[in-house]
Amino acid sequence: MEDITLFQKKKLSGEKITMLTCYDYSSAKLLAETDLDVILVGDSLGNVMQGQKNTIPVTIDDMIYHTKAVRNALPDIFIVTDMPFLSYHVSKEETVKNAGRIIKESGANAIKLEGGIEIIDNVKALIAAKIPVMGHLGLTPQSFQVFGGFKVQGKDYNTAKRIIEDALLLQEVGAFAIVLEGIPEKLATMISKMLKIPTIGIGAGNNTDGQVLVFQDAFGINMGKLPRFVKQFANAGQEIINGVNSYINDVKNKSFPAEEHTYKISEDLFEKLESEYIK
Ligand code: KIV
Repeated sequence: MEDITLFQKKKLSGEKITMLTCYDYSSAKLLAETDLDVILVGDSLGNVMQGQKNTIPVTIDDMIYHTKAVRNALPDIFIVTDMPFLSYHVSKEETVKNAGRIIKESGANAIKLEGGIEIIDNVKALIAAKIPVMGHLGLTPQSFQVFGGFKVQGKDYNTAKRIIEDALLLQEVGAFAIVLEGIPEKLATMISKMLKIPTIGIGAGNNTDGQVLVFQDAFGINMGKLPRFVKQFANAGQEIINGVNSYINDVKNKSFPAEEHTYKISEDLFEKLESEYIK
């Protein structure tokens, strides 16, 4: 059983933390065959699983549903589940109640939330309630309307300073790790060196303490345009398309199902049925 100590151990040893998103049982079964460290049930499931344009409509119930499915396939891995938009902003009480539901009902080990100073009292309330918190700074997708789109953050003095200070603040109140998304590599490197807790990068260069990617982006299941920071490690999508075309072909030309896919009945029984029903 992996536990939260893996994050500090890897920060100290310098071994990179590997994290991928996952939202369903079948994909999680594939990941169970690997040495992946951490699963993120990200609210990117809004885009990837639900076909939404952004993550805003995702609910706590969605996060619980998908985390449970992943947990069923991966009983021992460390799972971090995102808190969706506006589920950790209204009050400390509501934040703890929502995160508590995720932890109690889904089997997640920890929650992740986006933001720094503006939500820090709610982060403190979570930590006081013994709910492990992973932070998320930089190009935080739930804020795309405030940013005016999905734009790299921290390219000017004020936003870079804000990201640094938010990272320090999250560490100070007890976050166990921070995702840095869509920021310049040098800024991510500096923050990763400053912090005692690990950083996990996505579009933040090569010097964070770990990396995370969206499963469907990394393995070619997303047929849309990929962001610059994604490397496609496999082309499972094209494999599936080829397989579906072969299926259609084989069904049409009657080469599927073949002998080996077909069940048998005894000749005697069949003759009896035939004599009763077929003249
Ligand atoms: O929701 C998500 O998948 C994320 C990662 C991209 C970091 O937050």
